[in-house]
Amino acid sequence: MTIHDQKYHSDFGVIQSSLQLLNEEKTEKLISLTYAIFFEACPAAESLWEKDDPESRSKMFNGVILMVIDKLMRPEIFNVNLDTDIKDHHGYGVKKEMYAMFFHSLMAALREVLSDDFTEEMLQAWEKQLEQISGIVKIHIDSTPKV
Ligand code: HEM
Repeated sequence: MTIHDQKYHSDFGVIQSSLQLLNEEKTEKLISLTYAIFFEACPAAESLWEKDDPESRSKMFNGVILMVIDKLMRPEIFNVNLDTDIKDHHGYGVKKEMYAMFFHSLMAALREVLSDDFTEEMLQAWEKQLEQISGIVKIHIDSTPKV
C-alpha cells in the first residue's frame, strides 16, 4: 500500500466511524435536515421533485453516501456511476451549482445531528471528500458537450 492509498483508506475509516454514530433516529433527522437546509438555500431544487417524495429523497441520500464510499473504495465504479448520475440529473433539470449546495447542506446537517460526536477529523475527511466530488462533478459537466 502506498502512502497515497493509506491516506484514502484513513478517510474511509474516519467516514465509516461517523456513519456508525447514526442510529435510525439520527439517520432520519440527518436526511430531513439535509434537504431542509438544501431547499432553504436553493428553493429551485425542491420543485424538481414532481411531488413531495420523501422516499425518493431518502434513496437519493443513500446514493450520495454510497458514492462517497465508492470514491474511496471502488474508484472505477464511482466514475462510471457518476457519469450516469450526472446525465440522469441533467434530465431532471438539476443545475451544476446545485451539487455543491447539496454537499454543503449535508455537511451542515452532519455537524448539527452528530454535534459533539462529530470530531474535527471527521469534519476534515467529509469536507475533503465532498469538495473533491464537487470538483469532479464540475469537470464532468463542463466537459460534456451541450446539445
Ligand atoms: C452526486 C450527487 C447525487 C447523487 C449520487 C444522486 C442520486 C440520486 C438517486 C440514486 C436518485 C434516484 C432515487 C430513486 O430511486 O427514487 C436521485 C433522484 C433525484 N435526484 Fe439526485 N443525486 C445527487 C444530487 C442531486 C442534486 C444536487 C439534486 C438537485 C436538486 C438532485 C435531484 C434529484 C431529483 C429531482 C431526483 C428525482 C428524479 C425523479 O425521479 O423525478 N440530485 N438522485
